[in-house]
Amino acid sequence: MINLAVFISGRGSNFRAIHENIKSGYLKDVELKLLVSNNPHAEGIKYACEENILVLISGNEDIILKKVKQCNIDLICLAGFDQILSLSFLEKFNEGKWKIMNIHPALLPSFSGNMHAQRDALEYGVKISGCTVHFIDEKVDNGPIISQASVEVLNDDTEVTLSDRILEQEHILYSKAIKLFSENKLKVINGRHVKVD
Ligand code: GRF
Repeated sequence: MINLAVFISGRGSNFRAIHENIKSGYLKDVELKLLVSNNPHAEGIKYACEENILVLISGNEDIILKKVKQCNIDLICLAGFDQILSLSFLEKFNEGKWKIMNIHPALLPSFSGNMHAQRDALEYGVKISGCTVHFIDEKVDNGPIISQASVEVLNDDTEVTLSDRILEQEHILYSKAIKLFSENKLKVINGRHVKVD
């Protein structure tokens, strides 16, 4: 059994999808112990309260780290969290392992480093985009890639329609990665390649 914390700043649809996959039994070895939001108005907070999930509203790393330790968190999933965690936070939480994941709405390393990857993909004119789940390191959108899903860009796509189709894939992909982690199947080789056992 692993204890999970999800960090959000807004809508929280990935957070919700993960929780639904726990409730359905797909993520049977995962307990969602904590939601952290650095934004008191994040929509995802309401859902957490309705579902009796502990919520911490803070962007202060010391406060977050204390709570994460108190809750014995094994894995942190960033899901639309708009704050860059410091190297010191990563080191203190990770303790030499890879224990923080992020989801990015593009096929990394393309369209990294900002909050509108879907718009950038459309503007660039790529024919395929998608989403990436990766472990985080000290550089933004840079850590070892765990999994990716591709989404075709259609001729009449807008930022909204493309984002919606990518989001559908995000909801599936994130839980798959969490499942592999909970089964201890993810091994990071040389700080870059994730091998699935
Ligand atoms: C998602 O597109 C995620 O990839 C990106 O931010 C968005 C968060 O959406 N990092 P939600 O808050 O999970 O609905």
